[in-house]
This record gives sequence, C-alpha cells and structure tokens, in this order.
Amino acid sequence: MMSLLLDEVALAAARLAEAGVESPRTDAELIAASVHNVGRGELHTVPDSAFDARFWADIARRAAREPLQHITGHAHFRYLDLEVGPGVFVPRPETEVMTGWAIAKLRDMDVAEPVVADLGTGSGAIALAIGQEVPRARVHAVEADPLARAWAERNFAACVESAPYTAGRLMLHPGDFGDVLGELDGTVDLVISNPPYIPVGASVPPEVGEYDPPAALWSGADGLNAIRAVERTARRLLRPGGLVAVEHGAQQGAAVYWVFPEESGWQDTRNNKDLAGRDRFVTSVWTREAR
Ligand SMILES: C[S@@+](CC[C@H](N)C(=O)[O-])C[C@H]1O[C@@H](n2cnc3c(N)ncnc32)[C@H](O)[C@@H]1O
Repeated sequence: MMSLLLDEVALAAARLAEAGVESPRTDAELIAASVHNVGRGELHTVPDSAFDARFWADIARRAAREPLQHITGHAHFRYLDLEVGPGVFVPRPETEVMTGWAIAKLRDMDVAEPVVADLGTGSGAIALAIGQEVPRARVHAVEADPLARAWAERNFAACVESAPYTAGRLMLHPGDFGDVLGELDGTVDLVISNPPYIPVGASVPPEVGEYDPPAALWSGADGLNAIRAVERTARRLLRPGGLVAVEHGAQQGAAVYWVFPEESGWQDTRNNKDLAGRDRFVTSVWTREAR
C-alpha cells in the first residue's frame, strides 16, 4: 500500500544513498518510524495528514553522516534499548556476539553468583546485557570518561527499573581500568572488554571519526595499547580458571592472540569470529593464583 510517508521514505533513501550512507533504505525507514512514533513495519498506517516535516530535518542530519542512533537517541543491543548520543560510543552488533559468548559461559559456570568486570563500559551495553540475561551475575562496569558515564548511569537506572532483579547487582565505577577494582583482585570469574583499538591515524567513516568519542577509538600506533592494559588488569582480577574476552579489529586477530601467551599464565587462547566471519574477539583462561 502506498502512502505519502512511504513515498517520502523512498525519496529520502535515494538522498541517503547519494550521501554515501551504507544502509539508506533501512535508515530512512527507521528515521520515519522514530519521528512518527510507530514500528518500522507500521509506516503504511501513518495517515497522510499526520506526515511530520521533522522527518526531512532528521534525514538531512543523516545525509551529513550523523549516526542514525544519535538522531533517534536509541541503540538496540541484544534485548536492551539503550539511550545514546553525543559523548558516548554507539554499541555495535559485533559486540553482541562477544557478549553472547560471555553469557553462555556464565550460564554454564558452576558458580553461585559469578562476578564479572566490564572494562570501558561506554553506554553500559555489555554490562547491562549480562546483568539482564544472567540474573545470578554481579557485574562491575568501569568507565573513565565522565560524559560516557552519564549515559551509562541513565541506562543502568532504566535497566534496574525494567528488570528489578538487577538492583544491587550492577555496579558502575569511575576510573581507569588499569588501576580500579583492587578489592576484587583474584576473585573475578569473567573479564570482558570492548576497548579502543584503532591505530592512530587510520581512516574511519565520518559517523565514527566525527561522532564516537576519541577515547573510545584510538589506542596507539598499532591500536593495541588498551588491549595490553586490559590483559594486565585481567591477570590481576581473575581467579584461576577465570575467563577473559576482548574485542579487537578484524585485522588484529593474530597480534592480539600473542597478547595472551601461555608463559604469562594464559591457556586455551582462541580467536573468535563475528557474524561476518572476521576475527573479532580473543578469549582465554587464566591459570594462576593471585600474587
Ligand atoms: C569502544 S568503547 C566501548 C563501549 C562499550 N563497552 C560498547 O561496547 O559499546 C570503549 C570505552 O572504553 C572507555 N575507556 C577507554 N580507555 C579507558 C580506560 N583506560 N579506563 C576506563 N575506560 C576507558 C572509553 O571511554 C569508551 O567508553
């Protein structure tokens, strides 16, 4: 069925395609749905008389390569609807795969209340998904950037409101993940992180370079500085047999593998793929007692 809104969506998709947007039709439909407060599959139900000109204002923002999620104010991550905007990294589908790996491991773990640390939590995506999907878990999320932390605080509060069983089980900590959570040393069951991992000077799309916070992106000449810091913190935090999962760039699989060597106390280090079949996160098991 055609309607004014669907006609405008088709025109908008063509404009977004011209502007170099990767998924123009999807983005035009999601913007239309957000502006008119309906589901994406309900666009045909919007009467012509209800067409809202804010649609074209939002399409202009997207054509200028502002991220879709900053325009709608929301990012979906597993079963969560997170608030996002300027100052916080927009959670990505790749990270859902790593988080799913962690959730499966935690569900299988023979531990009454597994303790988890999410290093560099941003919007809170990983920590909150684990808290929501593994109700027995106690999740500590660390974030250094105050702007990002403000978004995380809102998302933590919304999660506790919608899933009251998470109250008192989700802890947000300010600070550098290199030196926080000392009180948990040697007791954590799983450390997970999607740290910054882009080599300084690498080329990124405008949505990333102009809108994701720099502290969420860049990490030294080879992009591995933060991953090395996560490895050091994981050694300190994990109990023997505890697990680590760290996201990295598609080209970094081989290099990141060697950040978790057996001689340091790691075992069963593996490269794991994302949904597109690219190396995306490394996992390993810590074998030593805390020193
Ligand atoms: C790539 S973003 C990931 C955010 C979130 N975990 C996600 O997957 O959507 C990395 C986050 O780590 C934070 N961060 C970077 N270095 C940090 C450090 N040394 N200590 C604490 N947080 C850090 C950044 O501010 C940013 O929010």
